Amino acid sequence: MKLTEIYEKGKEVLKRQDYNFALDAVETEFVMANNRRVLDRYTFLQQCIDGTEPTTHTSVLGVELKTPVIMSAMTMPIPAIAEEGLMKVARGLKEAGSLMWTGTPVPKELKALAETGVPLAATVKPLKNRKRMFETLEEIQEAGVHWAGIEIDVGQGTKIKDRPIIAGCTPMSLAELKEVRKEISAKMIVKGVLSRQDAEKCIEAGADGIMVSNHGGHTIDYLPHPFQVMDDIMEIARDRIVVMVDGGFRRGSDVCKGLAFGASLVGLGRPILWAVAAGGQEGVKSLVEEITEELRRIMGMIGARDPQAVPRDCLLES
Ligand SMILES: Cc1cc2nc3c(=O)[nH]c(=O)nc-3n(C[C@H](O)[C@H](O)[C@H](O)COP(=O)(O)O)c2cc1C
Repeated sequence: MKLTEIYEKGKEVLKRQDYNFALDAVETEFVMANNRRVLDRYTFLQQCIDGTEPTTHTSVLGVELKTPVIMSAMTMPIPAIAEEGLMKVARGLKEAGSLMWTGTPVPKELKALAETGVPLAATVKPLKNRKRMFETLEEIQEAGVHWAGIEIDVGQGTKIKDRPIIAGCTPMSLAELKEVRKEISAKMIVKGVLSRQDAEKCIEAGADGIMVSNHGGHTIDYLPHPFQVMDDIMEIARDRIVVMVDGGFRRGSDVCKGLAFGASLVGLGRPILWAVAAGGQEGVKSLVEEITEELRRIMGMIGARDPQAVPRDCLLES
């Protein structure tokens, strides 16, 4: 399946299943509209003479991937979109050489997902019930995930339009993040960093990686796109912590921009839902492969040999 077909068919299926509401954003939906606006602000400086055939293969936090395109934290509503939806996503991502990242709720079948051989990350919300949060972190690790961590950006829960979706969370302190670090023997990741200040605290807590993210517009309104804070974050994060990014990435061109801003990996949220709705395991595999091939073509025309070698100055701001 081609990318446009995946997106069109996936949207159609979700509409029929009545799951489209889950893809909307909080309150005014500024965040989602702004994500696209900011991504579209950048064009590429073509430097093709003396170019080489690039590779998209990369190695991040002990995981070998064929692509820097990964799944962003999500569980719901995948089981409802397709029967055995999470397993289909896991197998599709595995075949594409990508990484799976689960969110809330922590899937019951996490161990089975890990057994597919897909590199697996799982994060938990900063539950008010901290005891439960720590227990969940332990369960995640027992299932055999490669990376485990916290979604720090949901201290006030999540909300779609006027409808609160997830409650029972409260913001986390730096001291608590340090406690989490002690409990995690896998690589520790923190999702939902959107400022230099929070990035610095994640580094101080001893996290291995951060996902710079506005949660795809499911937390608070009027958050910036990650690109609006990335340069600032990279100034302190470069060579100290792995930085990933998500929020509105839909094509290889978007991913290439994420790499140019300094991200090692770029996450997809909604596209995974459309892909599993449109074509199950095959849809997810095609989604990642199509985006990766688009990325590879662009890298070949801007003089980037591999995902780490996409320079910040290949982007022209319009
Ligand atoms: C239906 C849905 C469920 C999500 N669930 C979670 C979650 O459980 N935990 C989390 O950290 N982020 C969650 N997210 C946010 C994604 O991980 C990601 O940050 C965001 O969707 C990226 O933007 P995109 O959808 O435009 O690609 C969810 C997003 C969607 C659309």
